[in-house]
Amino acid sequence: MDEFHREGDDLFCESVPLAEVARSAGTPVYIYSHAALERAYRELDDAFSGAGLDHLVCYAVKANGNMAVLRALASFGAGADVVSGGELYRAMRAGFDPKKVVFAGVGKTENELTAGLGERILMFNVESVSELEHLNRLAAMHGKHARVALRVNPDVDAGSHPHLSTGLGHSKFGIPVEEAAALAERMGEYRCVDLIGIHQHIGSQLLKVSPYVESVEKTATLVEELKSRGFDIRYFNIGGGLGIRYLDEETPTPKDLVDALRPALAATGTKILCEMGRYIAGNAGVLLTSVLYRKRSGEKSFIVADAGMNDLLRPSLYDAHHDIQPVKDDIGTARADLVGPVCESGDYLAKDRELPDAREGDVLAVMGAGAYGFAMASNYNSRPRPAEVLVRGDRWAVVREREHYSDLIKGEIVPAFL
Ligand code: LLP
Repeated sequence: MDEFHREGDDLFCESVPLAEVARSAGTPVYIYSHAALERAYRELDDAFSGAGLDHLVCYAVKANGNMAVLRALASFGAGADVVSGGELYRAMRAGFDPKKVVFAGVGKTENELTAGLGERILMFNVESVSELEHLNRLAAMHGKHARVALRVNPDVDAGSHPHLSTGLGHSKFGIPVEEAAALAERMGEYRCVDLIGIHQHIGSQLLKVSPYVESVEKTATLVEELKSRGFDIRYFNIGGGLGIRYLDEETPTPKDLVDALRPALAATGTKILCEMGRYIAGNAGVLLTSVLYRKRSGEKSFIVADAGMNDLLRPSLYDAHHDIQPVKDDIGTARADLVGPVCESGDYLAKDRELPDAREGDVLAVMGAGAYGFAMASNYNSRPRPAEVLVRGDRWAVVREREHYSDLIKGEIVPAFL
């Protein structure tokens, strides 16, 4: 059963009517389903188990770093993929086992590298020679050894939105796959760094298995070559990126993906890591927003809501499609733009679409908002960020309070010379 479903006129998350949450927690509010998080995680985990592959599914914290979401994933047995000191801090506080944490990112600072060493994380995904040098020096200074995977850039077009493709030759990410073996040969110079893995990630919201297969085959060849040269490569991290359905996309299932990758992965004889964010969290969340006004401007009809680009940036930034559903289903449809209160003409949640013909006070659900929703929210226009709620069965709880105005000026200082 879909965790977000209708019972009569009402939209539910698991056993909780969303109108009730909107009434009591206010809007805008993000709602996450514990059951949907668990189902998506298990689909991935089972796909690898079913293919007989030793593996660890890491959750890409960047997609949704709420502490309750992280705690739930840690409790399912997931690892964590972090890309900053802040994400590492969250992951540790949420209870992830440091031995299941991988640290990626093209620009890790010394403080971040040191924090990762301090936590004895599973490995750093290293993206450049300079980073390797810094990590080696810091590890030596702290009397530690850093386990690393080299992130290679397989130069494969992921076929996704240009902002979401990371595996092309001209991208800032990773080390060209052809240069990785030479770098590995030089790694003996770095005495406090142990090369244990190879990492790749070609992009996000991938809707086809073929670029994934192409890149994994390319990188698997490197893994096998390094192993044959005597390197103790024990891990192959294939990245994240599995796409989800926002509109009517044909999406591969985790099983489709893993079955297609299986021959190449099995041949490496390594433990397989993946780092999925969107697949786990994307369809496990919605954003509820209340309609403030209806207005017409010439031919156009606008639904003005209390959530905008500062709450959910994806439509403005990527022209991303999110389905809009009424929380109560008795209102018909109308052609309109659903816009937010932010002072930018790019501030919209849906543009020129057949939308619920909502009146003032009605609550709308923006679907598929569990990944890269709150995570990319901002305080632009000095708007407090929304509350977040987690539903589990018939229980629900606010897992992040709505920000107050005092949060907006937290840390700001008016100096004495004024
Ligand atoms: N691993 C690495 C190295 C990544 O850069 C990313 C995402 C992931 C894993 C997780 O990818 P996923 O499984 O979630 O596709 N803000 C954009 C998405 C940016 C993704 C950035 N990197 C959006 O809203 O669509």
